[in-house]
Amino acid sequence: MKVLVLGSGAREHAMCWSLANSPLITKLICAPGNPGIKKEAECIDLNINNNEDIVSLALKEEIDLVIPGPEIPLVNGIINDLNKVNIKAFGPSKEASQLEGSKKFTKEICKAANIPTANYEFFTNQEDAIHYLKSINAPIVIKADGLAAGKGVIIAKNKDEAILAIKNSFKGVFGEAGKTVLIEEYLEGIEASYFALCDGKNAIPLTNAQDHKRVGDGDTGPNTGGMGAFSPTPNLSEEDNEHILNNIIKPTLAVMHERGTPFQGILYAGLMLTNEGPKLIEYNVRFGDPECQVILSRIKSNLFEAILAAVD
Ligand code: AMP
Ligand code: GLY
Repeated sequence: MKVLVLGSGAREHAMCWSLANSPLITKLICAPGNPGIKKEAECIDLNINNNEDIVSLALKEEIDLVIPGPEIPLVNGIINDLNKVNIKAFGPSKEASQLEGSKKFTKEICKAANIPTANYEFFTNQEDAIHYLKSINAPIVIKADGLAAGKGVIIAKNKDEAILAIKNSFKGVFGEAGKTVLIEEYLEGIEASYFALCDGKNAIPLTNAQDHKRVGDGDTGPNTGGMGAFSPTPNLSEEDNEHILNNIIKPTLAVMHERGTPFQGILYAGLMLTNEGPKLIEYNVRFGDPECQVILSRIKSNLFEAILAAVD
C-alpha cells in the first residue's frame, strides 16, 4: 500500500520510523516532512493547512491511506475530504475532531458521558468574565476555547493576572480561538497522558506518558506544547490505566457514537491525577508531540496493521 503521513515534526518522524518497518507498505511519503524523515520516507513539499492541496497530492500519488500527524488538518476536516474521493484516512472526522478543536464541545461530552473534569464557565464577553472572578478563588485557569498550539491556557496566580489574561484573550492574542473564554477550576495534582487507538466503537489502550510542559528548567515559565516526554509514567498503576480506559475513554467513545460523531483515530486524554482520582483536562485527537516519540519506541507490534484495522 502507498501511505502518506502529514506533518513535519519529530512526531511525524517517529511515525514514519515506526511505519517504515511494515511489509504492507510499498511506498511511504511524508509531506512536507523534514531532513530527518528523509531517511524513512520520500518527502514532498506541501501546505498541510490546505485540504485541497492534500487531496490533490494524495490523488496524484495514488495514495491508499493518509495518516495526519497534527491536529490542524483533522480539525479542518481532511478525513471527510479524503473519504469523499474514496481515499482511506486514519483519524477523526471534522465533527469528531471538535474533541480537540473546541473545549466547549469537550465539556458537553464530559457532561453527557459523566466524565470527571474541572468545574467551569464559558464567556463571550469580557465584562461578564471579569465579573465572574469575584465569585471564585485563585489560582484561576483561563483558557481560549479553540486551538492555540498548547499555549492558550493561563494559570493565573491571582485575580490581577486573571483579568490580564481575560483582556488579552478578548483582545485577540489567541486569534479567533480566544473569542470564547473558559474559566476553570484549578486542579491540583500530577499530570499524565493516556493514549488509545479507536475504531469508532472500540478502544485499544496504547500506553501512558508524561510530558514536560513548561519552557524553563525546573518546570518554570509559561506552558508550551511539550519540551520532552517519558513513557510509561510511574504515577499510573495498572489499576489506574484500567480505570481511565473504562471510566473516561470508553464512555467518551460511546457518547460520540450515540451522537453520530464516532471517533476513529488516536484519542489522547490529558489528565490530572487529583486526590479524587483522575480528571480530564483536555482531549487531543492525535498522537502527542513529544509523547509519540517515546510511545512508538516502546510498541513491539506492527503499528500499521493496527491503524489499518481501525480504519477498516
Ligand atoms: P490544555 O491545553 O487544556 O491541556 O492545558 C494545558 C496545560 O495547562 C495542562 O497540561 C495543564 O498543565 C494546565 N492546566 C489546564 N487546565 C488546568 C486546570 N484546570 N488545573 C490545573 N492546570 C491546568
Ligand atoms: N505534548 C502535548 C501535545 O502534543 O499536545
